[in-house]
Amino acid sequence: MSQKDEVFAEADLLVRPFEFNEKVAHVFDDMAERSIPHYRDVQPMVATLGLTFYQEGSWIYDLGCSTGTTIALLLEGLKEHKLNDYYIKGIDNSSAMCEAAKKKITSMDISGNPGRVIIEEADLLKTPVENASVVIMNYTLQFIDPLHREALIRRIYEGLNHNGILLISDKTLQSHTDLSRIFIDNYYNLKRTNGYSELEISQKREALENVLIPYSIKDEEWLFREAGFEAVDLFYTWYNFSSFICLKKG
Ligand SMILES: C[S@@+](CC[C@H](N)C(=O)[O-])C[C@H]1O[C@@H](n2cnc3c(N)ncnc32)[C@H](O)[C@@H]1O
Repeated sequence: MSQKDEVFAEADLLVRPFEFNEKVAHVFDDMAERSIPHYRDVQPMVATLGLTFYQEGSWIYDLGCSTGTTIALLLEGLKEHKLNDYYIKGIDNSSAMCEAAKKKITSMDISGNPGRVIIEEADLLKTPVENASVVIMNYTLQFIDPLHREALIRRIYEGLNHNGILLISDKTLQSHTDLSRIFIDNYYNLKRTNGYSELEISQKREALENVLIPYSIKDEEWLFREAGFEAVDLFYTWYNFSSFICLKKG
């Protein structure tokens, strides 16, 4: 079970760039629930949409799977719908996250098909995407160097089967800085409500600078359409956080 996130609770003279290291992996589930708006609502939506578009015998990829929360929900849904012919690959380049994901998944009752879930420690920029009907990138594209984003989304499009989907959630910027400021203020209010101190909020903001690089909703949509996705829509949005569904018709 995840411990309480206190990663930024102590004053630090030198705040280092944010990393998904062992310390973060240990508290990640608590961090995600308290710092990603409506994380508990978005996750089941991702799993439901994933299962709606899942094609038997194809692969579901979770790129940047962290502790495997989305995969766990997908497995529950697959079991409920008696879908046995599934293959899931979770990719993360943090070994601590992969360990936590393996632990979460092995603690589940997926008897019959345990071998069909692979958690791989790898760079998602170098991971082939093949025979996929669902690709998920929850709050991960924002951490990818903008120089590589276009090629990555194009590669995902190419690896998807017809009628396959890409589900992406990210922190987003507004079209005008005045609005961005107001939305971000509301976001920090949510973090306060969820128990983070001013020190924790400001140190994390500093640590994420140049590490988490958000795009505007318009720029993300452009990226998905340019890659070839014929239908691109928002399925969830809350101030400066947005979730997209991108459909490949082919
Ligand atoms: C915010 S977390 C994702 C949260 C997770 N998808 C969820 O819904 O709970 C971002 C994850 O992406 C991983 N990551 C960042 N860059 C990566 C890369 N190039 N290759 C693989 N994983 C990466 C990090 O290690 C981290 O676990």
